[in-house]
Amino acid sequence: MRSTFSTRMGAIAAAAGSAIGLGNIWRFPYMTGENGGAAFLLIYLGAVLVLGIPLMIAELLIGRTAHADVAGSFRKLLPDTKWYWVGAVSVFVAVVILGFYSVISGWTLEYTWRALTNDFQASVASAQLVTPEAQASQILTMDFNAFAQSQLPPVLWASLFIAINAFILLGGVQKGIERASNILMPILLLLLVALCVNSLTLPGASEGLKFLFEPDFSKVTGQTVLAACGQAFFSMSVGMGCLIIYGSYMGDSTKLGKTALSVAALDTFIALLAGITIFPACYSYGITPNAGPSLIFITLPSVFVAMPGGYFWALLFFVLVTLAALTSTMSLLEAEVTFFNETVGLSRRRAILLSSLITWVFCIVSSLSLGIWDGYRIAGLNFFDFCDFVTSSVFMPLGAAAISLFVGWKLDRQIVRDAITNCNEDSGWYVLPLIWALRIFCPAIIFLIFLKGIGLIPDAI
Ligand code: TRP
Repeated sequence: MRSTFSTRMGAIAAAAGSAIGLGNIWRFPYMTGENGGAAFLLIYLGAVLVLGIPLMIAELLIGRTAHADVAGSFRKLLPDTKWYWVGAVSVFVAVVILGFYSVISGWTLEYTWRALTNDFQASVASAQLVTPEAQASQILTMDFNAFAQSQLPPVLWASLFIAINAFILLGGVQKGIERASNILMPILLLLLVALCVNSLTLPGASEGLKFLFEPDFSKVTGQTVLAACGQAFFSMSVGMGCLIIYGSYMGDSTKLGKTALSVAALDTFIALLAGITIFPACYSYGITPNAGPSLIFITLPSVFVAMPGGYFWALLFFVLVTLAALTSTMSLLEAEVTFFNETVGLSRRRAILLSSLITWVFCIVSSLSLGIWDGYRIAGLNFFDFCDFVTSSVFMPLGAAAISLFVGWKLDRQIVRDAITNCNEDSGWYVLPLIWALRIFCPAIIFLIFLKGIGLIPDAI
């Protein structure tokens, strides 16, 4: 018998765990910071509603109807067609995403360690003994670059991270994934609420809130819209079948629409809380939050160094980011594991071992490509940036379009209706709008994102 989640809450916790990750706490704030704040936020909310939610329902629906791994689900629903390849490619994409995602997750472990050992403060103090005029942010920038470009430490942390994932997955669906999600997600929420309340009490917090909530539409360009859509995909874990797997563990009475709505709401809520935590803190200490990807590894430590109780808040923050990353990587690794387990036919243990090894190799190459292997370039990018680029700009939009078209056009309409209404037990008022969104609207927007992503739409638009 194939496992399922034991409770509805567990299913929601696991799917929310997949969605809530570095995308919410690291990527969302820096994307919002780079793209002009509140106007980006509004467009992002729109993208979650019109793209994210229909696609999430589509993925959960495929999984819950087929009860199989990503590739197996397509094969089961449309046997003897090439759709199977959409699933197979998705597994490969999971490997690539995990490769660089676990490098950043490894950084979060290192930074948790630094916070625990009060390293930010100590490093700034000792550097200022030598050069008194050096600013904390300069010192922390150098520290971060030296660490990220070094060889052994980032690889060791990332390896530890993959090992923790493998260990949790060895527990299986209910005792591994579901239990970990049920424990970690409430902790994550509590930590974030505490951090958020602290930020709001800082002097000058309202400037940060203004940045996040007062839209300035003069900053909106085509680029902003597409960045917001890309962020919605990444944050909601849609576009590569991760949620097909979690859908396949959902019992037949799970309400798909309700589940997708709860997960989307939680994901958005956590991203907002992360924004409400980070922007007021930055403004309060006179730091502009547009640093890009290094926002949480350089900008925030500079803020923590200056903040009363900074030791405590830094520690809470980095534990939070690590937990968020963990529940997301679990879902990515599980996508690989079920493929090797069910389609290839290995035992679950062997599948976990093999998936971890493959991920490990990708992650070592990704990490070293930021330092000693930076000279090896693919299309002008180092391996790390290349993986980030091909997955989020090419494979995820293509995967999302394929999933959308598959449910919209290929799946029998009765199957879709039965899945949504649980065989006429629930209302199916949104079946038709959903099908048409998946047939035309979502693929069209995704196609634009794709063209923009690969540079076929000029930057001026
Ligand atoms: N959504 C996660 C985050 O916000 C990352 C993630 C997990 C993901 N699984 C995914 C992204 C599948 C894209 C596809 O950090």
